[in-house]
Amino acid sequence: MKSETVEYITAHSDELPTPLYLYSESALTEAVREYRKLFPENSRIFYSLKANPQPGIVRHMAGLGIGAEITGQGELEISRAAGSPCLLAGGVSKSEAFLTALYREQPAAVIIESATEWERLKKTAPNSARIPVLLRINPGRSFGGLNMAGGSQFGLSPDQALAVAEAACGSDTVDFLGLHFYFGSQRLDPDPILQALAAAEEVLSAFLEAGLKIRVVDLGLGCGVPYLERDTALDMSALGEQLRLVWQKDIWSSVKIWAEAGRALVAGAGCFIARVTERKRLHGKTFIFLDGGLNVHNPGVGLGRFFRGSPIFSFLPAAPGQDRETVSIVGNLCTSADCFAQDIEAPRLEEGDLVVINNAGAYCQTTALWGFNSQPRFHEALLSADGTLTMLEAQHGV
Ligand SMILES: Cc1ncc(COP(=O)(O)O)c(C=O)c1O
Repeated sequence: MKSETVEYITAHSDELPTPLYLYSESALTEAVREYRKLFPENSRIFYSLKANPQPGIVRHMAGLGIGAEITGQGELEISRAAGSPCLLAGGVSKSEAFLTALYREQPAAVIIESATEWERLKKTAPNSARIPVLLRINPGRSFGGLNMAGGSQFGLSPDQALAVAEAACGSDTVDFLGLHFYFGSQRLDPDPILQALAAAEEVLSAFLEAGLKIRVVDLGLGCGVPYLERDTALDMSALGEQLRLVWQKDIWSSVKIWAEAGRALVAGAGCFIARVTERKRLHGKTFIFLDGGLNVHNPGVGLGRFFRGSPIFSFLPAAPGQDRETVSIVGNLCTSADCFAQDIEAPRLEEGDLVVINNAGAYCQTTALWGFNSQPRFHEALLSADGTLTMLEAQHGV
C-alpha cells in the first residue's frame, strides 16, 4: 500500500464509510507503467475488466490509453461509458446477439474460442466490414499457477485453430489477425510464464510453417499478486529482463504484440477496509468481528483458494509499541467459513478500529458472496494523486 494511502486512511479513519474498497490513482498509473515495460515499445495493452469492472478504474485506464478486454455485454457497456480507446472481445460461448452488438463497436479484435463461435461469427458478420479475428489457442498442457490451459474448457486446439485460420483467410467478411494465448493466472514465478511463451512460440511457428500470416499475437501472461501472507511477489524486473531476451528472437520480429492483464494492473492499487464491530472472548479465543466478510471480500486468488489462507493485513491507525495479541478475524455472516484469519498476531483491536487488507484491487469484490445474509455491500472510492477522495458509483447495483 502506498504511504499516501496509509496516511489518508489514518487521518480519516473515523469518517470513512465501511466496508470500503479504496483505490489509489497513482498506484494504478504506476502499475500500468511497470506492466508496459514487460513488452516491446509499440505493444498494445488491454485491461481485462473481469479483474475489476469498477467504472472509475476503467475510466482511469482509458485515460492512460489502455484498451478494454471484455467478456460480455455488461463489460462492453462499462468500457463504452468509460471511453476505452479500443476493445478486445474475449469470453466463452459468445452468442450471435453479443457478436452482433460487438460489430457495432468496431473492436480491435474478436477472439474466437470454439468452432461453434466461428460458425456464429460467419453467420452474423456483416458484408460491409471485415471483422478482425484472433484465435485462442489451448495447447493441451498446463503451466502452473491458476491453470486455464490443458484440461480446461478454453480455446481451440492448435489443429482446430489451423482449420479455422485457413477458412478465415478465405473469407470476405473476416480479417484473420492472429493468435491469442492465455494459459493461466496468478503466477508468482517467471518460470510458468516463460514456459507458456515457449509453447506459444511452438504454435506460432507451426502456423507460419503452414503458410499463415500472423500479424498479431495477443498474450495474457497471468502475472500474479501476493494476496496471502505466504505468497511471494512476482519479481517484475527479473521477468522483464527475461522477456526482453524472448522478444529479441526472430519469431517475434514480424508480429505485433498485444497484451491483456487484469490483476497485475489493479490488485496492488486497491485495499479493502472494514471496521471492527465487536471483540469477543470465547473458549480462550479472541474474535474480532468486522462489518464485512466473505460477502464483500474474497481474498482475491480465485475461487479455488476461497476460504483459505490469511491475507496481508494492516491495522490502522497504528500506534507504535502497541501490545500484540492472538486473534481470529471474522466477518458478519452466519457461517464459520466467514473467517479472514485464524489465530494471527495483531495489535489490540477495539470497536471502531479499521482492519485493512492489502492488494485487494482485483477479483476480491466481484467474486465475493454478495447475496449471503443480505448484509450491506461495499463502498468504493478513488484517492487521487492530490489527496482528493472521490466516491465511485456502485458496481453491484444496490
Ligand atoms: C482470457 C483471459 N484474459 C485475461 C485474464 C486476466 O487475467 P489476470 O488477471 O491474471 O491478468 C483472464 C482471467 O481469467 C482471462 O481468462
